[in-house]
Amino acid sequence: ESATKAGYPHFMLKEINEQPQAISDTLLRRIDKNNNLILDDIRLDEDEIQKIKDIYIVACGTAYNAGLIGKYIIENLANLRVRVDIASEFRYNKQFINENTLVILVSQSGETADTLAAQKLAKTKGCRILSITNVVGSSVARNSDDVFYTLAGPEIAVASTKAYTTMLVAFYMIGVELAKLKQEISIEDYHNIVEKLKKLPQKVKETLSVEKKCIEIAEKIKNSKSAFYIGRGLDDSVGKEGALKLKEISYIYTESFAAGELKHGTIALIEKDTPVIAVVTQDKLLDKTMSNIQEVKARGAYTIIITDKHIEDVKNYADDVIQIPEVYDMFSSILAVIPAQFIAYYTSIKKGNDVDKPRNLAKSVTVE
Ligand code: AGP
Repeated sequence: ESATKAGYPHFMLKEINEQPQAISDTLLRRIDKNNNLILDDIRLDEDEIQKIKDIYIVACGTAYNAGLIGKYIIENLANLRVRVDIASEFRYNKQFINENTLVILVSQSGETADTLAAQKLAKTKGCRILSITNVVGSSVARNSDDVFYTLAGPEIAVASTKAYTTMLVAFYMIGVELAKLKQEISIEDYHNIVEKLKKLPQKVKETLSVEKKCIEIAEKIKNSKSAFYIGRGLDDSVGKEGALKLKEISYIYTESFAAGELKHGTIALIEKDTPVIAVVTQDKLLDKTMSNIQEVKARGAYTIIITDKHIEDVKNYADDVIQIPEVYDMFSSILAVIPAQFIAYYTSIKKGNDVDKPRNLAKSVTVE
């Protein structure tokens, strides 16, 4: 293992802190001085894109969670129908795929057995295959028509951090480019959105200052038996990644729910001091999520809000607030996940766990 921790106690903390650079490398090298995206590796032209009727995003774990964000971005920007499948389920689900389907495979390592098996099936059906991966020349990359390489650098910690946020960058760029090719957005809007994208590395850097607050929160939740993330839309998808992070390294049973689903069952699990972390970044969903937070607070939950909004009387809803910088709502997930990474990291540390190598897990899962 040639990688070093560069003075950090763990690879995971190093990799969290490397995110501004990883995002900058993945993003800024692909934007020219006139605010055009340069996606050289993706050779889909306007004619080919018109043929694409459906998109399937297929991946596992954190890469799957990134795919959930990708679905939202592509559907809303490019007006294309997108389905996200867990790679290990893909072959057993009813598929509606053919030569008019674009399959986007997402895999940090590019060697995950389930993702490779899905790729094999998609190829036999004649689908166009685009992969998003962090490893040049990996198996998934070698068998794809187009490859978007995330330039995150080696990720050593089992818990994925910078690979996830650079996957989001990939989806943001692909979504914006597809929208342009399909003429779903004007050239002026295209350039404006690219301008917003360019701000992300700096905003991610500013977000790292939430670390201290997350250490305090980790201290409060470290003895909890279970915890929940809630949110709506994109915030629900960020919650899914936050929950995976927390459970895999702190071993606290953590689930993520669409906030509106609480009343259909999950709220029965809320007891005094159960940690509920709400992600609130979407203007149009703000009021609805806030009222869900009130519901759990009234039942004794310890409520934490991760938000980029300035919420009035926030103390009536939240025991703790993690304020992150405000960006274009569509791109807020890349910031909102950072506190979730820190909370997971510090909770694991406080419990004395092996953060970089959690029990029962491998970095790359090469068996089906
Ligand atoms: C997340 O922290 C895990 N390391 C895991 O879920 C991982 O994302 C999954 O195994 C997929 O790996 P891949 O991106 O290399 O295909």
